[in-house]
Order: sequence, then C-alpha cells, then structure tokens
Amino acid sequence: MRALYYEEYGDVDVLKLGETRNPDMSDDEVLIRVRAASLNPFDWKLRNGMLRDFFEMDFPITPGRDGCGEIVELGKNVDGMRLEQGQLVSFILSELQHGSMAEFVGVSGNDNVVPAADNLSIQGSAAIPLTGLSAWNAMVDTAQTQAGMRVLIHGGSGGVGSVAIQIAHHFGADIYATCHSANVERVEKLGAHAISYDLEDFTSAVSDCDVVLDTVGGQVHEDSYKVLKKGGRLVYLLARPFNDLSADYDVEDIQVTVFGNTANLVKVIDFARKGIIKPHIGHSLGLDDFDKAFELSESGNAGGKIVLNLDTQAIARPADDTKTTRAPGSL
Ligand SMILES: NC(=O)c1ccc[n+]([C@@H]2O[C@H](COP(=O)([O-])OP(=O)(O)OC[C@H]3O[C@@H](n4cnc5c(N)ncnc54)[C@H](OP(=O)(O)O)[C@@H]3O)[C@@H](O)[C@H]2O)c1
Repeated sequence: MRALYYEEYGDVDVLKLGETRNPDMSDDEVLIRVRAASLNPFDWKLRNGMLRDFFEMDFPITPGRDGCGEIVELGKNVDGMRLEQGQLVSFILSELQHGSMAEFVGVSGNDNVVPAADNLSIQGSAAIPLTGLSAWNAMVDTAQTQAGMRVLIHGGSGGVGSVAIQIAHHFGADIYATCHSANVERVEKLGAHAISYDLEDFTSAVSDCDVVLDTVGGQVHEDSYKVLKKGGRLVYLLARPFNDLSADYDVEDIQVTVFGNTANLVKVIDFARKGIIKPHIGHSLGLDDFDKAFELSESGNAGGKIVLNLDTQAIARPADDTKTTRAPGSL
C-alpha cells in the first residue's frame, strides 16, 4: 500500500511517501481504508526523536494517530453489533500503534473506533478523535468543569484548546483563552474572552481561576499558578517542560492522560453530531503535501487542524467545516 513513513529519527527530510507492507490485522482489530488522516504535534515530536525515551518503536514508522475511513474488514473478536463493514468511522490509535497516514490501517476495534458523525466532513471526522478526547479528558474527566467556574484555556486557537473551549462553553463556564492576536475573532466566536499572548500578559488579564488548561508548558505553565484560586486545578497536556510550583501556590497540578476510550470517543462524536463541537480545519492537503503539513504543525501556529487527504472525492460528505487550502489530492 502507499504510505508515509520514516526509517530513522530526524527532521522533515526523513519522511518518505512510497510503498509499504499492508498492516497485519489481529482478531481484535478492524481494517480501515483511510480517507483522511489528521496531523498532531505528537507526530513530529515522535519523528524528530523527542519522545524516543518514552515510546520504544520499530522502524519503519508510519505517522498518524487518528483519522477517518471505511471499515474493510472486522476481526472476529470485534463487536459486530456496533460496527459493520463499509461503515465510515472516526478512529484513534495509541501512542505505540501508528499509521493513519496510509491507505490502510488496522485499529483496535473495541475501544478506538466510532461511527463518524453524519454532519461532519471527512476532514472534520478525521480531525476530531485525538483533540476531542484530549479536550474531553481535560475539561470533563479531570477539571470537572461546571457552570459558573472561571476557566483559562491556553492555546485556545489550537486543535485541543479550541475543542476545550467549546466543551467548557457547553457546561456553562466563564472562559478566558490565550491565542495570537490574529486568532482573537475565531476564539471569541467559540465562546471565550480572548487574551492575545503577543500583546498582553495573561496574568494581568485574568485572575481567581478555578481551572487552567495548559497546552503550552514552560513559562506559560509557571505563570499560570499566579492566576489560580487556592485549591484550583492546573490541568496540563505535556508540551514543554516546567517546574512544578503547585505546593508554593496551594493548587493542584494534574497531567491529562489520553488513551483510546470508546465511551468518551462516543460522547465527543455525539457532541460533534449535535453541533456542540465544531472542528476547525485550517489546512486540508493531499498526502503528497506531507512536508508542508509537517512544517506548518511544527511552526506551532498552524491556524487550525491540519488534515491529509487520501482519495476523499470517492465519498460524498458535507464539506461544512473545511477551509480547503489546496484541492484534496489522491495518493
Ligand atoms: N497525551 C498528551 O499529553 C497530549 C495530547 C494532545 C496534545 N498534547 C500536546 O498539547 C499541545 C497542543 O496540542 P494541539 O494539538 O492543540 O496543537 P496545535 O493545534 O498545534 O495548537 C498549538 C496552539 O498553541 C498556541 N500557542 C503557541 N504559543 C502560545 C503561547 N505562548 N500562549 C498561548 N498559546 C500559544 C498556538 O496559538 P496561535 O496559533 O494563536 O499562536 C496554537 O494554536 C502539543 O504540545 C501536543 O503535543 C499532548
């Protein structure tokens, strides 16, 4: 099959588009013909070797943690009441099991695959699993966001941050979100008071927060202690390293873990189906534009989710959530 892959850690030059072996499928997996794969920061962090001490991988590695495609085959241990051949699904792969940037991928069928939302485009359905689960685990399971809470979300224009705002908005929180000044309008439309991190210091713009979601790390994390109430929660997705000062400020520092979880993935897709969560696709590219896609993601300011398309014209779907920067190409 055609796939994106790399055989050594390194910069974007190690990526190759070519023929690889079709995935070996276990009885617990479904084989999916991928129509669109989403690109997450994890993909380039793994590729450039930053995560080599955490995840022991065999080469070649095909990147891609999530996507959208049709089920080609169901393993015999997969719940046939929930999934069926030919169905269009959104799926997520674990940190150790990659490969959505390929024609076919085998995915654990009982916990990582959910029927796609009818109202989403293929690109939206591909973009939502990892960012949606990360935001859900952060804002619902970990932060237990409720009406009236004051919440600060860093990276409110990013993949995770923009979904986190929409979830917190649904639960009635008073939301502040940091983003570049170029993205203020979009972030405010999602339901947050935007704080332009390039123009103002967020510690002067907000205080007494019940919860901060940190998707940035480093100094942003350390400054975030200052805007929390005593007993507040600094919920974070590991981005850049930081010093844990939670005891000095009498707040909780809680890392969010993201793993395949059908119950939460079903809730995320259901929120998308109801229009509560709308993914924002910044760049919809063909798989052959992989180098441009990775460079955009690594810039840290991609301006929305990046999706790589594989023969998406073969399926008729709504195109509501896609701002196409290049006509989706096939392999
Ligand atoms: N399992 C996990 O722990 C897990 C899971 C998911 C994600 N993550 C991590 O979470 C991070 C975010 O992921 P993502 O998918 O949301 O990435 P993304 O879509 O690339 O978004 C990153 C966002 O960060 C914003 N940003 C950059 N510098 C900032 C600053 N100083 N203050 C506030 N915002 C700033 C950018 O906003 P502008 O464009 O407006 O500049 C951009 O929208 C990544 O590091 C990723 O690896 C971890």
